[in-house]
Amino acid sequence: MPGLFITLEGPEGAGKTTNRAYLAEQLQAQGFSVTLTREPGGTALAEQIRDILLAPHAESMSVDTELLLMFAARAQHLAQVILPALAAGHIVICDRFTDATYAYQGGGRGLDCARIAQLEQFVQGDLRPDLTLLFDLPVADGMARAVARGKLDRFEQEQQDFFEKVRQSYLQRAENDPVRFRRVNAQQALADVQKSLDVHLVEIMDRAREQ
Ligand code: TMP
Repeated sequence: MPGLFITLEGPEGAGKTTNRAYLAEQLQAQGFSVTLTREPGGTALAEQIRDILLAPHAESMSVDTELLLMFAARAQHLAQVILPALAAGHIVICDRFTDATYAYQGGGRGLDCARIAQLEQFVQGDLRPDLTLLFDLPVADGMARAVARGKLDRFEQEQQDFFEKVRQSYLQRAENDPVRFRRVNAQQALADVQKSLDVHLVEIMDRAREQ
């Protein structure tokens, strides 16, 4: 694939939404074609699946249903947005991808990671992100930011213990794969987060020029 696939990961309230816009603006200012997208979602159909996943329901959603819906949305997103953009040579910045499935459905919900790996291979083939920025901050800080934003979705309504597992799972994945992951201290003030992103931007631009 000629493009570059960058994913942003981290718990709730880590500032991914603000910072993904910053990353895209900086890259576009340097003349790169950028596709900015998110999961679950990123296409009209996948956004409908997102609504089902995020809305609180009277009926409790089974963990397998949650997992399959995540990958159903991902299959649609790959086919409609990610693969065509990479084929066109774009830098794709995706707010969450399969590391979120390992962290939330694997770490948080306790699903066997081998099952996630099977679906990952089925839906993605060999496609994996080229670089993943992990926005890390203490759970209590992230939750306070999520609460300040307003109404909580089905995931945000989980307890602290769930998010501790999500965070540990992300940190473990980053530790196991230092070639792909870059950890960003998201507890800092926004200006300082963006200063550290500038370092990663240099790397992203260098790698995009090499493609
Ligand atoms: P967002 O609000 O950051 O866009 O994320 C939506 C929620 O979906 C967030 O709580 C994390 C969750 N999620 C998973 O549980 N598994 C996944 O694979 C993805 C992509 C997101």
